[in-house]
Amino acid sequence: MAIERTFSIIKPDAVAKNVIGAITSKFEGAGLRILASKMVRLTDAQAKAFYGVHKDKPFYGDLVKFMTEGPVIVQVLEGESAITKNREVMGATNPEKAAAGTIRKEFATNIERNAVHGSDAPETAREEIAFFFSAAEMASLAR
Ligand code: CMP
Repeated sequence: MAIERTFSIIKPDAVAKNVIGAITSKFEGAGLRILASKMVRLTDAQAKAFYGVHKDKPFYGDLVKFMTEGPVIVQVLEGESAITKNREVMGATNPEKAAAGTIRKEFATNIERNAVHGSDAPETAREEIAFFFSAAEMASLAR
């Protein structure tokens, strides 16, 4: 196992529900360290670009609308097998299928308003971190 970094978004539904702390606590409880964290309001262009891989999916328009409806928390998480660990603690994309104790089981509303996003692989983690955090910003947060 290796120390990895992954990228997370606490989505507008979860920010509106006032569960930023509860979700962050789940990450920390799973052994993940918050390396970087900020609140941002995605523009339409940012949401479209970030979810560009889904542009041909029927839910793309609604997803972009949802992700721009309010502020989000973007974070860089670090730890042993952080990508897999984060996906475990998030639970299945569809909260109806998410295991007990996972973030999506506890805080998601439905498959779209599903509280959190997490990178699915090392390459996407690198791309997604770079989408929101500059190299200089990450370097300035080094511990
Ligand atoms: P996320 O992990 O951020 O990746 C893509 C997002 O699209 C996903 O979480 C959901 O918010 C949304 N999504 C995925 N599948 C569907 C679906 N079938 N219907 C609506 N939204 C979806």
